[in-house]
Amino acid sequence: MNSKGLRSGWHLMFLVVLTCVGSLIAQPLVNPDTESKIDALLGKMTLEEKIGQLNQYSSTFDVTGPAPERGSSRERYEQIRNGLVGSMLNVVGFEATRRAQELALGSRLGIPLVFALDVIHGYKTMTPTPLAEAASWDLEAVEASARLAAREAAAAGLHWTFAPMVDISRDARWGRIMEGAGEDPYLGSVMAVARVKGFQGSDLSAIDTIAACAKHYAAYGFAEAGRDYNTVDISEHTLRNVVLPPFKAAVDAGVVTLMNAFNEIGGVPATVSSHLQREILKGDWGFNGFVVSDWGSIGELIPHGVAEDLSDAAHQAIIAGSDMDMEAGAYVAHLADLVRSGHVNQHLVDDAVRRVLRVKFALGLFDDPYRYSNADREKQEVLSEKNLAISRDVARKSIVLLKNEKGLLPLNKDSGTIALIGPLAADKDAPLGSWRAQAVTDSAVSLLEGMQAAVGSGAKVLHAEGAKLITGPRSFVTPSVYNTDDRSGFPEAIEIAKQADVVVMALGEDAWQSGEGRSQVEIGLKGLQLELLKEVCAVNSNVVVLLMTGRPLVIDWLAENVPAIAVVWHLGSQAGHAISDVLFGDYNPSGKLPVGFPHHVGQQPLYYSHKNTGRPNQQPIVFWSHYTDAPNDALYPFGHGLSYTKFEYSDVKLSSATLGMDGEVEVSVTLTNAGDRTGSEVVQLYVRDLVGSVTRPVKELKGFQKIELAAGATKEVTFTLSAEDLAFYTRDGEWKAEPGKFKVFIGTSSTEVKEADFALE
Ligand code: NOJ
Repeated sequence: MNSKGLRSGWHLMFLVVLTCVGSLIAQPLVNPDTESKIDALLGKMTLEEKIGQLNQYSSTFDVTGPAPERGSSRERYEQIRNGLVGSMLNVVGFEATRRAQELALGSRLGIPLVFALDVIHGYKTMTPTPLAEAASWDLEAVEASARLAAREAAAAGLHWTFAPMVDISRDARWGRIMEGAGEDPYLGSVMAVARVKGFQGSDLSAIDTIAACAKHYAAYGFAEAGRDYNTVDISEHTLRNVVLPPFKAAVDAGVVTLMNAFNEIGGVPATVSSHLQREILKGDWGFNGFVVSDWGSIGELIPHGVAEDLSDAAHQAIIAGSDMDMEAGAYVAHLADLVRSGHVNQHLVDDAVRRVLRVKFALGLFDDPYRYSNADREKQEVLSEKNLAISRDVARKSIVLLKNEKGLLPLNKDSGTIALIGPLAADKDAPLGSWRAQAVTDSAVSLLEGMQAAVGSGAKVLHAEGAKLITGPRSFVTPSVYNTDDRSGFPEAIEIAKQADVVVMALGEDAWQSGEGRSQVEIGLKGLQLELLKEVCAVNSNVVVLLMTGRPLVIDWLAENVPAIAVVWHLGSQAGHAISDVLFGDYNPSGKLPVGFPHHVGQQPLYYSHKNTGRPNQQPIVFWSHYTDAPNDALYPFGHGLSYTKFEYSDVKLSSATLGMDGEVEVSVTLTNAGDRTGSEVVQLYVRDLVGSVTRPVKELKGFQKIELAAGATKEVTFTLSAEDLAFYTRDGEWKAEPGKFKVFIGTSSTEVKEADFALE
């Protein structure tokens, strides 16, 4: 794609994002025909039936079996039959969704249910975890991946995914960092748009698209000390400049639902934040879809200490703009009384129901409530060859080569002996990652399998586990127990390391080490992994470490002592093949970190776009903002990632040294592939606003282009900047650019850049 094309595509999309705060964006959800159908339906609904539309339950009974006889399952079953449930989550598969829908259609008005599931990175065919996929910086591949998930989920009867998670996170201790696009609001915004487009397509009623849900609104990724569900206390400045842009981008891209968040922000739980939900989202941004609470988050207002009881919680949540109650049972139990007693205005309920019905109409559920579930399509679509190929493609694009000394990589697959060692080497489960929807346990292609399939008869792959990473069961309910004393596999590992020309070590995290409820204070290699690595390095100096991980890890020893390191994340169903593609050079790595890897856990939260502070570097005296025992910056920074070829950048050229408020300036570099093989480079553009009404980051990503070049080829790469690209939330609380001096940087990462100056006039 040429640079002009980019500008009119993704880049322009982001300009729209930046400029549209405060203006109403046309929402395809609203049209006169649907609105009048909704009016007619609302006219027929009782108050209880309306509230039913705002009630979402998780499946608690076998919807394909006979009706439960007693207990809360029986009550839920009856509630669906009586039109008191609007949506279900965790009902999956053709048969189950069909049976549950039949129950709902048997109710007085027969309003169809909308079925939801956390299809975060695949339904059954797993693609890389979202953080991994963001490392591809490949918007087309990310969109294709979300579409794949939508196709499989829709064929299995689902209508709605609780994705994308667009929370910016700068703290690798937070287990859910694996579920977002990393530390940067620009990258987070374009990834959010790609995913929304992938899930929803251009027609929500098409049978291969599903409704998306941008979550968690807002600031869930800023939990204090990276501890999941913890307090968030950020300024309006950070909220507007860092946290909200990806949500705004998703809304502008037409996302039809948002999920609010468990956390409080500055003392107000997000679930009852009118500022977020009514003023900004439904007011300023003109969002016409609906907001679902997070799981039980209305009920959690009680332990938060802002609601006395569930009725009080329901009261506050509906007033603040939470439209659908996920699993708290607060609305279904209390809203009718609150309306009848005059505590809640009936219009609030009507508005929330209207929003839910809009999405049901847009999905086409009133035309054919069974349009998605189709047994044949489900069989053909799920785990199809086509889907596996898409998964492999995005997986290999997500791999980030951190280091490659001595040109150790790529490996020769036709001769020599490779020792594959490590607890994750033959693991068929870890690559599926956290949030794996309906993936079958142990169904990924392991690295061992991938390598065995890739090598020719002249090469030999020896394998030893070396040490287990965890002992005990892997599941959502138990924390991982690390193996810290069983070294019985060490001798075999050391023996094959001695015999090999090169050693590949598969180290990192198990799938259940990151994800929800999996925050950690230590983010290094757990258990005996580092010890094993050191022993292997002592007998063989040609060691390649492949880091399978959900989150950034502290790998300072590796960075100093191991010649080659690649981050291979949790890449999904085709992980072993995708990694082998890169390992043996069938695919030249092109990924870039969407979040920095720190030197030390004590640096968290860490991000490249920090502020200068009033005390920048004043060495050698100590009175400046730094640590005396660790660097300030990341070990491997945001945007870093190597290739098997070598890219060279010319100096930065500007079409003009000044930019008018309504004008444009072209910023370009000449990129040369100075190596000996074709490769793709992500050319990154950053700016720095030198003086602002509020302090500005030392660098902010404002654009990127992924360019493929043949060996020896050269290309002029041009970005077009306008004032809108430089806008931010000012001291006056306005979204605008301020005149003054700017620096513009172009380079291969957030730290390796060339720069030029211009002024905005
Ligand atoms: C809680 C999580 O925070 C949210 O992201 C998820 O969608 C819901 N559970 C439903 O599973």
